Amino acid sequence: MYDTDILILGAGAAGLCAALELDSRLRVTVLCKEDPFESSTAYAQGGVAAVLHDSDSIETHVADTLAAGDGLCRGEVVEHVANAGSEIIRWLQQQGVDFTPHRPSGQLHLTREGGHTRRRVAHVADHTGRSIQESLLAQVARRPNISLLSHRIAIDLIVSESAGECRCLGLYAKNTKTRSISAYRARCVVLATGGCSKVYLYTSNPDTSSGDGLAMAWRAGARVANMEFIQFHPTCLYDPRARSFLVTEALRGEGARLRLPTGEEFMHRFDERGALAPRDIVARAIDFEMKRLGLDYVHLDISHEASATIREAFPNTYAHCLEFDIDITREPIPVVPAAHYTCGGIITDLDGCTDVPGLYAIGEVAHTGLHGANRMASNSLLECLVFGHAASHHINHSLSTESPLPEVDSWDESQVSDSDEEVVVSHNWDELRRFMWDYVGIVRTTKRLERARRRCAMLQEEIDEYYQDFRVTRDLIELRNLALTAKLIILCSLARQESRGLHYTLDFPDRDDTLAQQDTILCPETIAQESPA
Ligand code: FAD
Ligand code: SIN
Repeated sequence: MYDTDILILGAGAAGLCAALELDSRLRVTVLCKEDPFESSTAYAQGGVAAVLHDSDSIETHVADTLAAGDGLCRGEVVEHVANAGSEIIRWLQQQGVDFTPHRPSGQLHLTREGGHTRRRVAHVADHTGRSIQESLLAQVARRPNISLLSHRIAIDLIVSESAGECRCLGLYAKNTKTRSISAYRARCVVLATGGCSKVYLYTSNPDTSSGDGLAMAWRAGARVANMEFIQFHPTCLYDPRARSFLVTEALRGEGARLRLPTGEEFMHRFDERGALAPRDIVARAIDFEMKRLGLDYVHLDISHEASATIREAFPNTYAHCLEFDIDITREPIPVVPAAHYTCGGIITDLDGCTDVPGLYAIGEVAHTGLHGANRMASNSLLECLVFGHAASHHINHSLSTESPLPEVDSWDESQVSDSDEEVVVSHNWDELRRFMWDYVGIVRTTKRLERARRRCAMLQEEIDEYYQDFRVTRDLIELRNLALTAKLIILCSLARQESRGLHYTLDFPDRDDTLAQQDTILCPETIAQESPA
């Protein structure tokens, strides 16, 4: 049994920001399932969107976000987040993030990405996320009230039910080094577990993005929304030897062109904004051309720019590509789309509160209404930080630490044994991620979605049986969560009978404007009655 006031699950931008903003008299515990540098945050390249230049305005940032979101953003949330942008950049600077300056003016250098009509992305060369992660971790290390415990994978939330009201009391987590499972009791839990892009075979995300927080919240009774809107990043390095590596959109912001292997530029055939159209459009165009011509990849080419400029602006991309014998200053980069960002998530209000009392959700795991049907580039880190602040301020103002923590049961392993066939888990991991890629990817049809739904139900049954009988491992915990997340993506996709933003289906190829402002909301109780798996 481990006791704390506030338990934060996740040590990316959202979780660390929340920890730092909590009252220093509170005991704060941050858990993460691997090394703290394994998070999407640490891999972020492009930067943080904020209105920082006279040529820009809050109204323009709002208008661009709404346009990318294709009719589903919540206006008040977009305004709230856009308004907070410059303050968030100042906060990051106070934590030690050293943004790249604009040489002549001494102000910050701002880059452009898809959907932005102005330069508004503050960045640290092309490794913004790593710099943010380093700075926030360094600040956390200085705070005696914050304990950061790595290699702890949460299994499930502990929720009490009394008089028809449930409340989150903590969670069970496994120490993956010692293999022991403990109950962590807390006055409230903040989920900051990131997205679920690992549900797809090809993804830009690290292994941590397995939808754990989303699945746990769902099992605890929280509603989720808009899971059909999975963002595929248009340009991930294609090389069979390379682990997923994203080639930042900022390259296109600084003039890189998308070409077919013949050298022909193609994006203007799809959108007048060309390679800087919002991501849904660019990813679909690449997918279309790859399928039309039977290509394994297309080219992203910045080699027309001066070599020194490229190396200075994109040192991370340059070095990484060179490891695969691609010199981006002289030749094009082979790229393909890959699953990148989960636009939907656990429904929260402006303070990060979920449907379950005592449970908050912030960052990529949450659905706040900011992104609508398609997230605009570099709005995500901004959202993590805005809602990290908001949740902590809400906790600081509303939490009472007077009463003792309620009793909770210890984790019971008396009825399970060690697994006899790990191959079942690894096989199901592969199968799930492949059918999600093939049937629930960039272009969908009702038939493919139905096929995926049947496969998913079978897998879930098998996984649940396995889960009842055997001791949990990290792979099993993640597989169970991925399968549930897959089901929620499929159900949302089937429910949306139109094409909008990131959800494109050949059976309903047009946008249905009667559905503007209508989120796809799933409620655990209703779904459990319809399909028990
Ligand atoms: P994460 O940073 O993903 O952190 C999740 C944390 O939760 C990790 O510490 C993990 O260990 C922990 N966790 C998860 N499950 C469990 C569990 N069961 N038990 C314990 N701990 C758990 N966005 C931008 O705005 N600008 C960019 O330039 C940008 N570039 C990107 C580039 C890449 C390659 C990627 C992958 C994403 C990029 N994004 C970018 C998106 C953005 O980085 C993420 O949306 C954001 O970092 C998510 O932060 P988070 O704090 O919500 O989660
Ligand atoms: C990128 O650098 O292209 C990723 C930016 C983002 O996902 O917001």
